[in-house]
Amino acid sequence: MNNAEITYDLKLLQQSREKWAGSRALRTVYEAIFRDMAAQRIAGPSLELGAGIGVAGGVISDLVTSDVVKTEYVERAVSAYEIPAENWANLMAMDTLHHLQRPMDFFASAAISLRPGGRIILMEPAGTWWGRMFYRMFHHEPCLPAEIVPPFEFPADENGEFANMGMGEGLLTRKRPEFETRLDELGLRISAVEYRDLLAYPATGGFSNRAIFPAEILKVIMAIEKMIPQLLMQKLALRMLIVVEKKPDSKTARE
Ligand SMILES: C[S@@+](CC[C@H](N)C(=O)[O-])C[C@H]1O[C@@H](n2cnc3c(N)ncnc32)[C@H](O)[C@@H]1O
Repeated sequence: MNNAEITYDLKLLQQSREKWAGSRALRTVYEAIFRDMAAQRIAGPSLELGAGIGVAGGVISDLVTSDVVKTEYVERAVSAYEIPAENWANLMAMDTLHHLQRPMDFFASAAISLRPGGRIILMEPAGTWWGRMFYRMFHHEPCLPAEIVPPFEFPADENGEFANMGMGEGLLTRKRPEFETRLDELGLRISAVEYRDLLAYPATGGFSNRAIFPAEILKVIMAIEKMIPQLLMQKLALRMLIVVEKKPDSKTARE
């Protein structure tokens, strides 16, 4: 692992873990997100990248958790750029893609490490019209989909870190043809994109603030949000689920 790959302050982990334990509202919404990610899996072994405090492992069964650094919260140290080629059926990552300076190197590594038909299941911030405004007002990291342009390689900031919450919107919507071409060269293809989360997710207060509504109300809000048409969510959603699949006729091993 090289230092340039650590793009997240690992000291925040303990604090986040305490917040997770103390907020039922936060757990309710995040657990629903993790379950929706899990529903996209195919049968077989699953590895989570950038698992942070490792809480998805408590919700999703048979998930091997990892991060760039082996902490007490994850099982393995794995860089998204060097995923062990262990014939994974599923690679999962929440809020990790937008921290990767070289996302295409991640997809290349994923293509090698997945079995044919295997899936990359990502949950990312959505840089929609409302998403960009929301994150500008309430989040410290930039959300700039317009900066997600080929060759999809991004410089680190002065602290050696990188984040652009517009990564998902940039790759999957604005520069989709260019992204699809590069995926195709790697034997990958986009199999699903779903825009989601409007009110319940921010109402949890995240890992820094207090929840606005109790868990029971959040459940109702989430159920209503699922009914909003995708056409509208493409403008308003705060998050997006991305599923990329390794083509069934692709080769598996490092060649
Ligand atoms: C915003 S945090 C998300 C943590 C967790 N998935 C969550 O949703 O709470 C981003 C995570 O990406 C990880 N990360 C950054 N660069 C990485 C890389 N090159 N390979 C694997 N993980 C990486 C960080 O260590 C961090 O845990």
